Amino acid sequence: MIKEVTYENILATVANGILTITINRPDKLNALNRRTIEEIGVAIEAAASDPSIEGIIFTGSGPKAFVAGADISEFSNVSMEDGRKMSADGHRVFKAIEQCPKPVIAAVNGFALGGGCELAMSCHIRVASENAKFGQPEVNLGLIPGYGGTQRLVQLIGKSKALELLMTADMLNAQDALHFGLVNYVTTADQLIPKCEELLNKIRQKSPKAIEEIINTVDAFFTDGINGFEYEANAFGKCFGTDDCKEGIQAFLEKRKANFKRS
Ligand code: COA
Repeated sequence: MIKEVTYENILATVANGILTITINRPDKLNALNRRTIEEIGVAIEAAASDPSIEGIIFTGSGPKAFVAGADISEFSNVSMEDGRKMSADGHRVFKAIEQCPKPVIAAVNGFALGGGCELAMSCHIRVASENAKFGQPEVNLGLIPGYGGTQRLVQLIGKSKALELLMTADMLNAQDALHFGLVNYVTTADQLIPKCEELLNKIRQKSPKAIEEIINTVDAFFTDGINGFEYEANAFGKCFGTDDCKEGIQAFLEKRKANFKRS
């Protein structure tokens, strides 16, 4: 069954337990205006608590762009205070993606610039089509990335290459993005969504509780004030209290496939 939720700037379609969120402003190369960021926040929050959704794909409408950045037309006359708030709002939404308890994959089908690269980086996994281009061109506007780009780009590709890209505004093509670890796979345009679905279908065979703990525990590595090893020990212990864990171990001992609880 296919279910569609209507928004102004995004399309949210659920089919076979996978929610596809398509940024849908193709005339503006899917640039993220404030409304679009808000809608992404609402959709991701709803998906996190919807038991019928087991995985999420982000992509962009049209063949040219995933997302070509924050909407620059909203940048004229932004005060310092408003700029700080815009960034904080973006951080909240992108953090919700990063901390979503279900696997989230970016299907990058063209330009992923500025906020688009930041959106892709807030997803758990990135798959790029051969025509994808990644970059953080904010310095061309006298700006810096405001939706986590200075942090997540360093996490994903290391300080030296991140500083180069952030300071030069150079773009990486798909193969270079693969080389530097910014994306997990590169596919042809028509294999992009099938590759994301293949990954999600593999992950959804596993225990949803364990997947949630994986997401939280890996995130702990990047969270100030949290000792990741301590967090891991607690999460490991918590897993033993779940029905999924009992079923997984029992199934192994009985040489059968585990039948994890899905709602
Ligand atoms: N914000 C607002 N509008 C944008 C946009 C953005 N980030 N990126 C593209 N658009 C709009 C263009 O203004 C244009 O609108 P128009 O037809 O009403 O004039 C439309 O999308 C198509 O873009 P265009 O520039 O004509 O396409 P192109 O193929 O010549 O160039 C890019 C593609 C991506 C290289 C170019 O659009 C670009 O540099 N975009 C801005 C990238 C950026 O700086 N992002 C970071 C923002 S912080």
